[in-house]
Amino acid sequence: MQWLLKFAAGALLAVSTVVATSDGTASPRTANRRYIEERNGVHYNVFEHVATRSKLSFVKNSGICETTPGVNQYSGYLTVGENMNMWFWFFEARENPQKAPLVAYLDGGPGAASEYGLFTQIGPCHFVNNETTPSLNPYAFNNYANMLYIDQPIGVGFSYGNETTTEYENRDFGVVTESYGGHYLPEFTRYILEQNDAVIRGDLQGEEIRMVGVAIHNGWFDAAIQEKSNIEYMYNNSYRQIINESFHDELLDKYNTTVKPALDLCHTSGTNANCFAAYTSYSNTIEFPILAVFREKSSNGYYLGDIREPYSRPPSTHVEYLQRSDIQRAIGAKANYTDQAGEIGFYYSGDDARSFIPQLSDIVQAGIKVLIWTGDADYVSNWYGTLDVAHAVEWSGKDEFATKTLEPYTLNGVEKGTFKSVDNFTFMRIYEAGHNVPFYQPEASLQIFRQFMETGNVNPT
Ligand SMILES: *[C@@H]1O[C@H](CO)[C@@H](O)[C@H](O)[C@H]1NC(C)=O
Ligand SMILES: *[C@@H]1O[C@H](CO)[C@@H](O)[C@H](O)[C@H]1NC(C)=O
Ligand SMILES: *[C@@H]1O[C@H](CO)[C@@H](O)[C@H](O)[C@H]1NC(C)=O
Ligand SMILES: *[C@@H]1O[C@H](CO)[C@@H](O)[C@H](O)[C@H]1NC(C)=O
Ligand SMILES: *[C@@H]1O[C@H](CO)[C@@H](O)[C@H](O)[C@H]1NC(C)=O
Ligand SMILES: *[C@@H]1O[C@H](CO)[C@@H](O)[C@H](O)[C@H]1NC(C)=O
Ligand SMILES: *[C@@H]1O[C@H](CO)[C@@H](O)[C@H](O)[C@H]1NC(C)=O
Repeated sequence: MQWLLKFAAGALLAVSTVVATSDGTASPRTANRRYIEERNGVHYNVFEHVATRSKLSFVKNSGICETTPGVNQYSGYLTVGENMNMWFWFFEARENPQKAPLVAYLDGGPGAASEYGLFTQIGPCHFVNNETTPSLNPYAFNNYANMLYIDQPIGVGFSYGNETTTEYENRDFGVVTESYGGHYLPEFTRYILEQNDAVIRGDLQGEEIRMVGVAIHNGWFDAAIQEKSNIEYMYNNSYRQIINESFHDELLDKYNTTVKPALDLCHTSGTNANCFAAYTSYSNTIEFPILAVFREKSSNGYYLGDIREPYSRPPSTHVEYLQRSDIQRAIGAKANYTDQAGEIGFYYSGDDARSFIPQLSDIVQAGIKVLIWTGDADYVSNWYGTLDVAHAVEWSGKDEFATKTLEPYTLNGVEKGTFKSVDNFTFMRIYEAGHNVPFYQPEASLQIFRQFMETGNVNPT
């Protein structure tokens, strides 16, 4: 089990906000320590890892969520430095955990806890039929991979020492995210690649992280591209027309005259004030007017993440469940659960308006497997926009990618969407799926995830 702990510590550090020892040099402690610590009646396994100067305190096999016999789980905190306690929940792969890759899941938001994606989409359990306790999810992504769910805040930075085990060095590492993760995952992945380069150059002592795959569903990457697509999508999508032609033309005109210049200023100056002004501009000029029409045209309630009628959306039953003190004790949580937090800071910094195409371009060009996949019933980060984003990525395969047509993607002979790929870069449109794709298309999503992590390509079956 030692390898797993070191492995988890290293991987967690890779996604933590704090760079503990970015130079990887001397450490005050000399030996890793393991002990049991009791706090408020909860017994934590503590693992102090010298090489990463981190401390993991966790509960093993709480019996919550993953109940498949023989599949281990660990939940608790990674502590780096004095005051950073990052929550993680780790589930071993149901098949072949010793060989399976490690995949981290970071949710979107900004400020959404990863338990959102865990319980509503890809975790070992989910809530069905309004039940107040979860049941096993047969299409969980840990069917295939060791899955590490990490809570916000998430930024960049990692550190590793020279005592990581060979298992860790050789393990493929991937990251899955959704929605606003389109902002931070390209950034975070590029940072890991830079650190790897520093290790290769000898400027940084440590091991390379075998960063192999990055999958982003319904991602928000670039407001200039995606706000324009929002207008097109509401006018002409495969489900129902929301705005009429004259309104479409009017919005497009305002996009040109008001929104685009504000976004250009945000991108050239980069200041928080200009980017927040751009955010305000498209909210007022495009989003609120579209929302007003959408509301009017949706007689039985509405959800921007699924424009179909009737729509469906993931239940939020997990929130009450995770706010129960007995569940919190079982998994070793020391704070009450907050499902969505921290949006305000992001919005005032104008982050929503910034473009992450440059970072995305760098990681695609670096040859990392990148999958951009989108449920086609979602308006929020709709597939017109993510396809335009995919076309805007600057890399050697850009022209070939742009001219390729989308081909059918099937699951056991049933068409589930369309896709195209060049080298390690893949775009997919998924039918009958809203914003949180695996909730709507669990079986297809697991097949896509498995294929993507195994080979970097997706293949119709
Ligand atoms: C779940 O509960 C909601 C509200 O109480 C109800 O509208 C819905 O029909 C229920 N769904 C199922 C599957 O029972
Ligand atoms: C790790 O680095 C420390 C300090 O740089 C060194 O003393 C130690 O021998 C190294 N251990 C291994 C296993 O290389
Ligand atoms: C709507 O979209 C379809 C498919 O992309 C396209 O063929 C058609 O020309 C579009 N219609 C309008 C009015 O833009
Ligand atoms: C188009 O939609 C707008 C906004 O809903 C509405 O005010 C206008 O009357 C519509 N125009 C036509 C020609 O239907
Ligand atoms: C918006 O600007 C683009 C590019 O400059 C142009 O092709 C398009 O016709 C303009 N659309 C409107 C509605 O002004
Ligand atoms: C967590 O917060 C919720 C909402 O405020 C509250 O209902 C619940 O009792 C709290 N749980 C614990 C264990 O304090
Ligand atoms: C695609 O990914 C594989 C496996 O990670 C790698 O070996 C290969 O070099 C990549 N291809 C390109 C064109 O970068």
